[in-house]
Amino acid sequence: MQIFLDTADIGEIRERAAAGLVDGVTTNPSLIAKAGAGIFERIAEICEAVEGPISAEVVATDAEGMIAEGRRLRDIAANVVVKLPLTADGLIACRALSQDGIPTNVTLCFSLNQALLAAKAGASFISPFVGRIEDMGGDGIGLLAAIRDVYDRYGYDTSVLAASLRSPAHVEAAALAGCDAATLPPKIFDQMVRHPLTDSGLEAFLADWRKTGRTGLDG
Ligand code: E4P
Repeated sequence: MQIFLDTADIGEIRERAAAGLVDGVTTNPSLIAKAGAGIFERIAEICEAVEGPISAEVVATDAEGMIAEGRRLRDIAANVVVKLPLTADGLIACRALSQDGIPTNVTLCFSLNQALLAAKAGASFISPFVGRIEDMGGDGIGLLAAIRDVYDRYGYDTSVLAASLRSPAHVEAAALAGCDAATLPPKIFDQMVRHPLTDSGLEAFLADWRKTGRTGLDG
């Protein structure tokens, strides 16, 4: 499963990309606004820092405007994916941009029907919002599994990108549901590597080694 970072903070992205484990980045208007940067400059910086797909979201709400913005965003770099909201206009824009060979990420997906329509519109990625569904008492992970099942059953090649993930457990559940990718805040990315038994186990190994009087492997 590909791991994307869900942030527009260039420092946080560069720090984590250095380890080679970040496959892409997703942003949205809220994240760009929080970063306090211009969208064109910031997306360009992110595209340089990470080779994989970088989602940049339109802010127009009509199909024509979304298509025009999508083309401008795509012109920033070859790895830009145009992010579009899951509205009727968003699907028209998705279809038009996809037909032009521009990769798309259809976002704000909360139902199987929406995911089905996005796939029919040629979306490269569908982004179901797990955390926000759970906030409303729904089954976000169940939606991921249902989309995976329907896409496989009917042969859609839209990638399932689990979004709005709030915990490392969500990441594991997305992987078990067969998602192609998951996007997560840097904090959750950092938490994925940690386990208390890893820390205590390593401490014990090194304490035993120090008891021999050796500091490194040789002495
Ligand atoms: C995904 O593309 C979105 O930017 C993001 O995952 C939304 O997450 P939130 O519900 O935590 O804002």
